[in-house]
Amino acid sequence: PTKKLLILPGDGIGPEVMQEVRHIISWLEANRGLSFDISEDLVGGASLAQYGEPLRDEVVEKARAADAVLFGSVGDPRWNHVGFDKRPELAILKLRQELALFANLRPAKVFDALVDASTLKPDVVRGLDIMIVRETVGGIYFGNPRGIETLPDGSKRGINTEVYTTAEIERVARVAFDLARKRSNRVCSVEKCNVMESGLLWKEVVTDLHAREYRDVELSHMLADNCAMQLVRNPRQFDVLVTGNLFGDLLSDLASMLTGSLGMLPSATLGAVDNEGRCPALYEPIHGSAPDIAGQGIANPIAQILSFAMLLRYSLNMQAEAVLVEDAVSAVLAKGLRTADIMSDGKTRVSTSEMGAAIVNE
Ligand code: NAI
Ligand code: MG
Repeated sequence: PTKKLLILPGDGIGPEVMQEVRHIISWLEANRGLSFDISEDLVGGASLAQYGEPLRDEVVEKARAADAVLFGSVGDPRWNHVGFDKRPELAILKLRQELALFANLRPAKVFDALVDASTLKPDVVRGLDIMIVRETVGGIYFGNPRGIETLPDGSKRGINTEVYTTAEIERVARVAFDLARKRSNRVCSVEKCNVMESGLLWKEVVTDLHAREYRDVELSHMLADNCAMQLVRNPRQFDVLVTGNLFGDLLSDLASMLTGSLGMLPSATLGAVDNEGRCPALYEPIHGSAPDIAGQGIANPIAQILSFAMLLRYSLNMQAEAVLVEDAVSAVLAKGLRTADIMSDGKTRVSTSEMGAAIVNE
């Protein structure tokens, strides 16, 4: 059956890099016998300008009906003066909430040709390909009690509480195990069960689920502080990492810098599988709308293109096509083509559309 995609380019460089994905989609339709049912809409500043709000309900409904959403980025300095309830950035926050996207997937993959762009030694990161799965709607950022209280002596205390239920842990762990089966079949679960009850429960629930349903996947456990150290010391020991909201926030930012440029990094956020087996999912680059370079045709389209490759792999189960896109990106990098953000001596500098065309060609 034809797969339904919703494309939301957004602001700044969003529409520029999304254009290169459209060329890849056209190529797949012309050469691989695929057909996508695509709708597009405005979000962020672009929607504010046209409709007076960053995300219309109609767009949320379209997102619910789609097999997957491909998102660009939102944010536009022209709306900096408006109130917090009318910022372009609300579009992405509200979409994540409305679709209850609880699992954020961030791959950190080092392309051979860009091994020197890493902050670590080439020997440590060559061939690196890990995936961090971060729980995004629970944990200490949302738990109660929370707040700042004034004590009788006039001093204050700030309170946040890490709360995780069995169901919240199980659903994100399930995402990690399912992912591992499509990769190198290893999951490392990360918490601090040595000092936190929520971490103890996390470890118990992951261990139980593994024993019940995922015995074929190799499971290990690691304390979060050790994990931070191991990610820098020897990141290639990992395949899939699964962790809560707070540790995932820190560890995924850390891991992304192992690979180099913001313009290269895709992400996915997944929701709960429904009774019909459908899973809401949104794919977007990690970078924002980059107003400083918007309109110049120099943005790197690879993060957006790799986000589309993740969409093919995880939402549409088109493994071969995902590999095709990723291999084309590797090959173009190996030939020395570089957008400005990844440019180095002796390489060939190309524009956004030249990079996109080279990838299609490959
Ligand atoms: P940013 O990611 O847009 O840009 C940071 C720096 O990286 C800039 O110098 C930019 O030119 C560069 N850069 C980013 N993507 C690039 C690409 N594909 N190719 C080449 N260079 C690239 O982050 P910034 O500047 O903090 O935020 C700009 C706007 O984007 C803000 O309004 C922010 O709120 C929004 N934003 C939106 C996100 C989203 O839609 N999910 C995520 C992050 C920021
Ligand atoms: Mg962060």
